Amino acid sequence: MPLLAPRVMGSRRGARMGAFDRSGTMAGRLISTRPLFFNVSGNERLNWKGNFRTLEEQNESVLRNTRIMNANWDELLSKLRNDSDYPKGFFAIYGNNPARVHVLDALATFERSLVTPNSRFDRRLRGERSAISPEEEHGYQLFKSYGCVACHQGANFGGNLSQPFGIFDDPFNPRGATGAGKDRIAARGAEDGQLYRVPSLRNVAVTAPYFHNGYTSSLAEAVEIMGRSQLGRDLSRDDVRLIVQFLNTLTGEYEGHPLAGSDSAAK
Ligand code: HEC
Repeated sequence: MPLLAPRVMGSRRGARMGAFDRSGTMAGRLISTRPLFFNVSGNERLNWKGNFRTLEEQNESVLRNTRIMNANWDELLSKLRNDSDYPKGFFAIYGNNPARVHVLDALATFERSLVTPNSRFDRRLRGERSAISPEEEHGYQLFKSYGCVACHQGANFGGNLSQPFGIFDDPFNPRGATGAGKDRIAARGAEDGQLYRVPSLRNVAVTAPYFHNGYTSSLAEAVEIMGRSQLGRDLSRDDVRLIVQFLNTLTGEYEGHPLAGSDSAAK
């Protein structure tokens, strides 16, 4: 039994399709998918809303959140101090009994170790041109020329900006489907003012479902939605396919092993 068993269990990377309807609600409650830990040290903004800037802040909030781990420091520290192993570990590293600041430091230090280097795209950047195929390279050129890079930027292809979701079109109710006018929908996106952290696209091919509400498990659909809602462009099927091929080159390795997803994304 882990010491910090969450009182309310979330699923691995969030609810799967079927556990909730496509608007992302279940019994009227918003379900969020959990942003992945991998490469978090390179993200300047954490959480889907981008409202945390440090891992320590974010971890403390998750620990204390009554809907997630519902821990309080007195209880938590007394469990750690009375454990048969933890005090030795804390003494060895921090020279002291477990304290709030040490617990937060230990958690964040562990998270910073969760990096996934050596994706095929990284190898290409290091000069290994054959690490990615001509089609994948073409997808990368499209990713740049359509302007995906304006938001998904930096070493993590995202993680450092907060942006509205639905600038040109409602992501989940396309104007074609509802017959609603583009202007009305664009205004709605601007009006509701909700900002979302632009997620990192590293490992995206193996980390379905996508978006903060897990709306789709198809990477192609996610890319199509991005074109329409964030860039005001209806991407052709071929371009979506090529961009998805490029996104597949962003899958890295953890401790020398390529990451693999159990989901059927990336098709
Ligand atoms: C104006 C900023 C912006 C642009 C331009 C943009 N995105 Fe995004 N992207 C976002 C935001 C914000 C999210 C998170 C939305 C959410 O889930 O609430 C996102 C999410 C995604 C996701 C889902 C990632 C996940 O892990 O859930 C993919 C894939 C993606 N974008 C790919 C693209 C591609 C490909 C393009 C270009 C065709 C693009 N984006 C253009 C802002 C942008």
